[in-house]
Amino acid sequence: MSEKIFSALWAEIEAIGRVDGGGYIRYALDRPELILRDWFRNQADRRDMPVTDDGNGNLFAWWGGQWGRGAVLTGSHFDSVPHGGGYDGPLGIVSAFLAIDQLRSSGHQPKNPIAVVAFVEEEGGRFGLPCLGSRLLSGAIDPAKAAALTDRDGITFGEALGATPAGPLPGLQSRIGALVELHIEQGRQLEVPVGVASAIWPHGRWRFDFTGHGDHAGTTRMADRRDPMLTFAYTVLAANKEARLSGAHATMARVEVEPNATNAIPSLVRGWLDARAADTATMDSLVTAVTKRATERAGRDGTEVEVTSESLSGEVTFDTELAGRLSALLGDAPILPTSAGHDAGVLSALVPTAMLFVRNPTGISHSPAERAEHADCATGVDALAQVLSELT
Ligand code: GLV
Ligand code: MN
Ligand code: MN
Repeated sequence: MSEKIFSALWAEIEAIGRVDGGGYIRYALDRPELILRDWFRNQADRRDMPVTDDGNGNLFAWWGGQWGRGAVLTGSHFDSVPHGGGYDGPLGIVSAFLAIDQLRSSGHQPKNPIAVVAFVEEEGGRFGLPCLGSRLLSGAIDPAKAAALTDRDGITFGEALGATPAGPLPGLQSRIGALVELHIEQGRQLEVPVGVASAIWPHGRWRFDFTGHGDHAGTTRMADRRDPMLTFAYTVLAANKEARLSGAHATMARVEVEPNATNAIPSLVRGWLDARAADTATMDSLVTAVTKRATERAGRDGTEVEVTSESLSGEVTFDTELAGRLSALLGDAPILPTSAGHDAGVLSALVPTAMLFVRNPTGISHSPAERAEHADCATGVDALAQVLSELT
């Protein structure tokens, strides 16, 4: 497909949710994401593709019988991390519509239904739990628990959705024949325009609540302080060190402070640990080590620490036979693992799942600096069309 055609469709969504300070703020079911969901419905309408909603906030645009047997799903998500890039997610949805255009103009007659899917709340940027839509669809989370998740303003997922989520799709395994998610590669591993995913590192989020004693910054003697900021700061450094020692990844990038005043020792510091590793045992021992060091340090600081596991995403190995087949179909495209989470990873527990990666020239993602060459994106659309034609 021509780069020009890709760029023309991309331009329709490029400004939605883009913020002055840089990057995108597209939280699930918040205004920019709702505009993108309307755009999705319009795209589907333009192509005579009826849209269904699974009652969990995930949208499906159908070519062929809705939820007929062995449907092949392709798509991704619209939501972003705060000040994230525009390609992480939306690239998979835009490419899916364009791949369908290509299949139709080539006269392809699919034997199985094809659906373009937009999963809700993939990043967990609003309600804290990543891949919420695919977890609900696949029954990996209790709908009542999902409904009660709150955003930073106290609005629940159930309120934002307007209902308690419907939960798992009955007969999902016979209704979905395969899911193919096209996504920007989020590292520097891919040196050609398109690759195929092999695996996803296990990863998770842990909330660390550090409590101490709020007091006056001027009058409290240094020796008398019980300052949870010190315990937090030590924990950030310990997490980094433990991750380096074990070849894992640890990040503490979100923090809340009470009262968050320049001249008051905080009473509470809440920090989130994002931990990932090539295998579950390494990830678990990383989290255990960080927790131990935080607890020891709290003992020295006269503070307390409580650790809560907020989400876990297990190790994923994508269907090896399918990945090999797609790689061969795409002229021996490289097969590579990733340490980023994806809805395809969640569904891979139940249905044959594959991912196509589009080269990320800088390797930067979850940042305003994320970008992809439109020539590569157009090659990605061609690859996706080839894959869909092979699978349907
Ligand atoms: C999702 O993009 C994640 O890996 O956090
Ligand atoms: Mn992401
Ligand atoms: Mn993504």
